[in-house]
Amino acid sequence: MSTNKPIYACMRSIGAYAPPKVLTNADLEKMVDTSDEWIVKRTGIRERRIADADTATSDLAVEAARDAISRAGIEKEEIDLVLCATVTPDYFNMPATACVISHKLGIKNVQAFDISAACSGFVYGLSIARAFVEAGIKRNVLLIGAEKFSSIVDYTDRSTCILFGDGAGAAIISATEDRDEGIVDIHASADGTYADFLMTPAPGSVHPASCEVIEQGLQYIKMKGNETFKLAVKTLTRDVREILLKNGIEADAIDHFVPHQANYRIIKAVGDALKLKEEQIILTVHKYGNTSAASIPMAINEIYEEGRLRYGDLMLLDTFGGGLTWASALLPFAGRN
Ligand code: ACO
Repeated sequence: MSTNKPIYACMRSIGAYAPPKVLTNADLEKMVDTSDEWIVKRTGIRERRIADADTATSDLAVEAARDAISRAGIEKEEIDLVLCATVTPDYFNMPATACVISHKLGIKNVQAFDISAACSGFVYGLSIARAFVEAGIKRNVLLIGAEKFSSIVDYTDRSTCILFGDGAGAAIISATEDRDEGIVDIHASADGTYADFLMTPAPGSVHPASCEVIEQGLQYIKMKGNETFKLAVKTLTRDVREILLKNGIEADAIDHFVPHQANYRIIKAVGDALKLKEEQIILTVHKYGNTSAASIPMAINEIYEEGRLRYGDLMLLDTFGGGLTWASALLPFAGRN
């Protein structure tokens, strides 16, 4: 009989980075036919951060990762897997941004790869990190969600350019023998029926790079916003109810509900359905907009830096994005503040 103790995966630390340049609603009013009033009323967004032309997704990621590594109290040599969730990689399609990040951080000879699940990427990545750790294969995973979303936004399209921003978040997912520190549960799912709700049509095998691709603007994000909105509210409400029910946890036991920051109205609808109190709901959408895979770790980092996230606090994460993909997770924070 094996005497090995079970291993759990825990979130040992968090870090994030937002580039300094701010793009306000007033700035967008000068670029497209929109208004601060419309944007705030329909989305809750007031401003977002935009990276400089010579800053890559990996550069944002490296800043966030450095904080996560030092806050976990580990050396970079102890990291044995690097995962980067992104749909705005440094290069389409190789090398993986995770490889570029590993090189920039001086992390050598470890497995590194990207995860493509749009806004759900960080929670998808959490499920992969958890599987590696709980199987006893890896001990310290550097999990990153990073996006230079401005690189695929058409700043003449008012229906999308008001929504997105750039940024990165990172966490160290470590092995622990303490069950109370471990990730409780993760749901992650997808439905390709709705693939055309949110897509960048090119470049890819369907439309390889060409002059026509550029002329038609196929390299930019296209979104069926209203259809996505309705499906997001329905799917997320069902998903978070299911994960709580499955684990016998009441909504009022959640210390921090950390939703994907796409639209204040989606967050409010899900929060209302769960009867969550205002102080349970983490909101950053007003200052960063939708940063896709970076949005959840950036939001966790926000409460960490405000001193509101303490060891043992129970978090409920939920997210929805291109694919379509969606995911939720229940976990305590296992870092020290
Ligand atoms: N300023 C002013 N008017 C606008 C703007 C704008 N920026 N954008 C659209 N409008 C207009 C439309 O043209 C339309 O006008 P019409 O009625 O004359 O045709 C009207 O406003 C309403 O448009 P809708 O698209 O129906 O507006 P809606 O209330 O749905 O809000 C939004 C749009 C904000 C995009 C919303 O649908 C949304 O948030 N969708 C979900 C986004 C999401 O969650 N995506 C998933 C994650 S993203 C990822 O995975 C990368």
